[in-house]
Amino acid sequence: DLYNFRLIRPDTKVYGIIGKPVGHSKSPLLFNAAFKAVGLNAVYLHFLVDDVEKFFNTYSCIDFASGCSCTIPHKEVALKSMDEIDPTAKKIGAINNIVRRPDGTLIAFNTDYIGAISAIEDGLREINGVIPAGASPLSGKLLVVLGAGGAGKSLAYGAAQKGARVVVANRTFERAKELADKVGGLAMTLAEAENFHPEDGMVLANTTSVGMTPHTDATPLAKHALKRYCLVFDAIYTPKDTRLLEEAKESGAIVVHGTEMLIRQGFEQYKNFTGLPAPEQLFRQLMEEHA
Ligand code: ATR
Repeated sequence: DLYNFRLIRPDTKVYGIIGKPVGHSKSPLLFNAAFKAVGLNAVYLHFLVDDVEKFFNTYSCIDFASGCSCTIPHKEVALKSMDEIDPTAKKIGAINNIVRRPDGTLIAFNTDYIGAISAIEDGLREINGVIPAGASPLSGKLLVVLGAGGAGKSLAYGAAQKGARVVVANRTFERAKELADKVGGLAMTLAEAENFHPEDGMVLANTTSVGMTPHTDATPLAKHALKRYCLVFDAIYTPKDTRLLEEAKESGAIVVHGTEMLIRQGFEQYKNFTGLPAPEQLFRQLMEEHA
């Protein structure tokens, strides 16, 4: 009952996820269940797309289209087809959420960084307790981002926007330097990050692929380097508990899983698509059932 076919009518809103490959995506499952639960006359499909530019030329014309998600390998190239781009998404250089306005114009967002940053902020609230309304618990924090690829950029820009002091550590120093300069942060190699411990209460965010299935014995930062971190986030979600997160727990840090970023970026997409709050419990339950 993935698509709720019996509900489709001429005025049904059509959403979808574009990617290649795309068949493995769980987004149709989540969004269709949410539309059904709330009684929205909408459907969410898998769109296997090769030529992104041609796709959006058509998409902006079809009246039933209301928005789409965008995944690998289209997150960067899709930028060129947009009429308007959220300023932070533009800086990051990647989008994953596109809304078609009634006049056919396309506006794009990057909900990946919002998902990651909000998961880290809630983790910090667990440690720090209540802080003044409107303030970010990341403000003034020293955040070390491991990696300088697409996910590294998202984290670094998102955290800098919240007032964090950002350090970018990457295997290839030049890439760390390029990103750090853009966010007004400090650059170093991964090896240097192992001996970087200027203060207590630092935050660590891994965005490298080190530790991902099947190489689950690997870790991007040696355990001895984790002592000064109060919170460790790993963008990897297979496995859920990476070696980095296991060792961070043993060192006494709060850990934030990559699955949390994944689900929260979905909440943001739902909000942008519908203007409604996401059915968070339903999304969480479905993600667990279909893990
Ligand atoms: P994504 O978009 O998921 O961030 P990416 O752009 O390919 O993916 O970036 C991968 C990141 O993981 C990079 O920071 C990469 O480091 P380099 O810039 O030096 O390539 C990092 N990375 C991948 N494999 C790694 C490894 N074995 N050791 C250390 N870093 C690694």
